[in-house]
Amino acid sequence: MTATTDASPAPTDAAATAAQRVGVVGLGYLGAVHAACMAELGHHVVGYDIDQAKLDALKEGRAPFFEPGLPELLTRVCSGEADGEITFTTEVGDLKACDVVFVCVGTPQRKGELAADTTYVQRAFEALADVVKGPALLVGKSTVPVGTAARLADVLAERAPHLELAWNPEFLREGHAVTDTLSPDRFVLGTTSPRAEALLRRVYARPIAAGTPVLIADYATAELVKVAANAFLATKISFINAMAEVCEAAGGDVKVLADAIGHDDRIGRKFLNAGVGFGGGCLPKDIRAFMARAGELGADQALTFLREVDGINMRRRAKVVDLAREACGGSFIGRKVAVLGAAFKPHSDDVRDSPAISIAAQARLQGADVVVTDPEAVANAQRLWGDLTYTTSTEEALSGADVVLLLTEWPQYVGLDPAHVATLVRGTQVIDGRNVLDAAAWRAAGFTYRALGRPNA
Ligand code: UDX
Repeated sequence: MTATTDASPAPTDAAATAAQRVGVVGLGYLGAVHAACMAELGHHVVGYDIDQAKLDALKEGRAPFFEPGLPELLTRVCSGEADGEITFTTEVGDLKACDVVFVCVGTPQRKGELAADTTYVQRAFEALADVVKGPALLVGKSTVPVGTAARLADVLAERAPHLELAWNPEFLREGHAVTDTLSPDRFVLGTTSPRAEALLRRVYARPIAAGTPVLIADYATAELVKVAANAFLATKISFINAMAEVCEAAGGDVKVLADAIGHDDRIGRKFLNAGVGFGGGCLPKDIRAFMARAGELGADQALTFLREVDGINMRRRAKVVDLAREACGGSFIGRKVAVLGAAFKPHSDDVRDSPAISIAAQARLQGADVVVTDPEAVANAQRLWGDLTYTTSTEEALSGADVVLLLTEWPQYVGLDPAHVATLVRGTQVIDGRNVLDAAAWRAAGFTYRALGRPNA
């Protein structure tokens, strides 16, 4: 057993609802949302980050990324309208009096490797060990390779025995981050210490009282829950995309197939949408890091199927490039391709490992004039892939296009009137990379409609 243990008495009912002094380290996607939500839940929150510009924006209720509901929540908690309160700092020493500090820093994929880089996590805990007076609880929320928490607990035991460690993974989805944090579908508390468990139950008192289930786990299990959940979701998406490949070969319709198998409660219809596959800052990186860690543990065979999950996902992107080239008459040279969507999914401005950008870049490299549009993600995409042409105007993107690629299912693209689109484009070719357009309506407007896994749609 690696967790520290403590036989402190269970908290009283009064203590169970008391406001805590909560620190949050790293105000990126996870941390900014977590910090704001902790203030909303009634706690006194200190948010720490090294980026002053980010803190200035957060203080003014501006989120550094697009997340529905977050600006309103930030404004509420910063203006004193919420039960709790929040302050921001670039001084780690300002966390010294916290009862509990959540570490929310990133664990990016290491360059040229599958494994995750845990340097920021390690540094955050070392810094906290030096400044937090305690007794206090440090809580890891970052997604880490299994074994990280046990290693950090050993460091704390040696350097700062007045601090306890718990691991408490998050499962928030971009676009739903605020509700996923305020009322998650479960809490996983990785600790064997009754005192740490009681403190976390106090921090999450409101959602727990509202019925969110709590699962207590050891460090290793808590760390694994997060990557196992993401591996399962990625596998589900790649499973249906593999069925799409078979449907393409056999002349089936993957959408009907997904509806049909999804009616079976044991399977379920969610995450069975075939298309260009998964991207973003979590699923691709997490399944790779999981494989790498399993390899280090000598359990690589257990996860070799995730290589195929990754491979199926990548093949879908190549498939769309092939379909688009065909739609251009066999070559992209001298052709204009309109790409609807840059974000890895709708209601997000995140372009990390976005299938849309990956496909757009391939078409560009093969000679197409590619114009990408997105309601929220153009600025982020432009910063990372300057070689593509961008516009925030859907009409401008469509104007004179030889082929239209729907790659992110924003409602405004799904709801486009194909008759109007036909008046803008040069070639009437549409490829539905998310299986969301009304094929009959697009055909009626004169388009050649192609989708993934539905050769006869
Ligand atoms: C994911 C997990 O869902 C979340 O629990 C975890 O904390 C972080 O990673 P997120 O990255 O926000 O969340 O995106 P998610 O909604 O899971 O979608 C991931 C990708 O899969 C997107 O690119 C989406 O377009 C794609 N997807 C999803 C499909 O291709 N088909 C589907 O049926 C569902």
